Amino acid sequence: MKRIGMLTSGGDCQGLNSTLRGVAKALYEEYGKEIEIYGFRDGYRGLIEGDVRLMSPRDFSGILTVGGTILGTSRQPFKNMRDKDENGVDKVTKMIATYNKMELDCLVILGGNGTTKTANLLREEGLNVISLPKTIDNDLWGTEVTFGYQTAMDIATDVIDKIHSTATSHSRVFLVEIMGHGAGWLTLTAGLAGGADIILIPEIPYDLNSVCKKLEERRKHGHSFTIVAVAEGAISVEEAAMSKKEFKASRAAMTDPSISFKLARELGEMCGQEIRVVNPGHFQRGGGPDAYDRILTTRLGTGAARLIKHKQYGNMVAIRNNQIVAVPLSEVAGKLKTVPVDHDLIQAARDIGISFGDEKPEKKEKKDKKKDKDKKTDKEKKD
Ligand code: F6P
Repeated sequence: MKRIGMLTSGGDCQGLNSTLRGVAKALYEEYGKEIEIYGFRDGYRGLIEGDVRLMSPRDFSGILTVGGTILGTSRQPFKNMRDKDENGVDKVTKMIATYNKMELDCLVILGGNGTTKTANLLREEGLNVISLPKTIDNDLWGTEVTFGYQTAMDIATDVIDKIHSTATSHSRVFLVEIMGHGAGWLTLTAGLAGGADIILIPEIPYDLNSVCKKLEERRKHGHSFTIVAVAEGAISVEEAAMSKKEFKASRAAMTDPSISFKLARELGEMCGQEIRVVNPGHFQRGGGPDAYDRILTTRLGTGAARLIKHKQYGNMVAIRNNQIVAVPLSEVAGKLKTVPVDHDLIQAARDIGISFGDEKPEKKEKKDKKKDKDKKTDKEKKD
């Protein structure tokens, strides 16, 4: 008899249930009655407290399109894993005890960066672990895509699409805040897909003057509105120059509810245009997975089942060159996959005139003047 534990941890996203379904269905197909699957409630909390239930094949039926997670989730920060309770026992020790008591063969863990770090810690402690890359942020190292990302991109794009009409009617500037603290994948791709005019991501610190200049330029060229896609984690050039400590203090002292509101206030004062902020927030994580994520999660989930069959523990199931592969957790844990500033997506955006708020205004003016001069010379030649 094989005994497998499963849990979903950290912020939820679309595709958690379809992943669980992929793993479970493939295991039931392979082992029939010779397998028991246990679901831990609310992520690592369930493993720590032994809050678990035996699942049945019926639990995994009809959940392909369902949002959230049937197991529940919670945030259990990695940094607190070694904290001891009143009896001097830490969370890692408790998790190992539950695993051993239940005589599990493997633990399947669905989660993002923090979750994966803890999964790797459990692997180091000798547990058989397989993880699956979940997050709308797409910032897990080792996989080209994480599940949830594509669906969230659809949602964020839809927000930008819909904002266009009201922005045009009122000739306003709209800042649409998109999730992603450490990496700008979601903002970049939703911004591109939604036709944003300015995209601000953590990887490219913005200069307020440059953003303002772009707004003014659009006005000058007859565009009454501007859409700015702002990542939750967007930072200014001044903030980028700060030490970690200074940055933390400056953000703690910030009175605006988020970076977009701060930007809206500053740009309003600087450029005098009418600005509104839209924050779709957790809406981006809501609902069921789109077709792409349903397929991706079925592939990743069945990939995890194959790893269990072959006892290839200690890996994260990933996708590379459109192939499902196993990447050692030791390589993945603790690494953030940010957007390379020379990424093809950034180049494509720049090529069509999207600003990242980093272009020096003087440079742009010089470029425009040169263009005008070239045009004149061409005309003179023709004449
Ligand atoms: O899942 C990742 C993420 O969506 C980030 O982009 C965002 O900053 C964070 O979760 C929000 O988390 P919470 O649900 O704890 O507010």
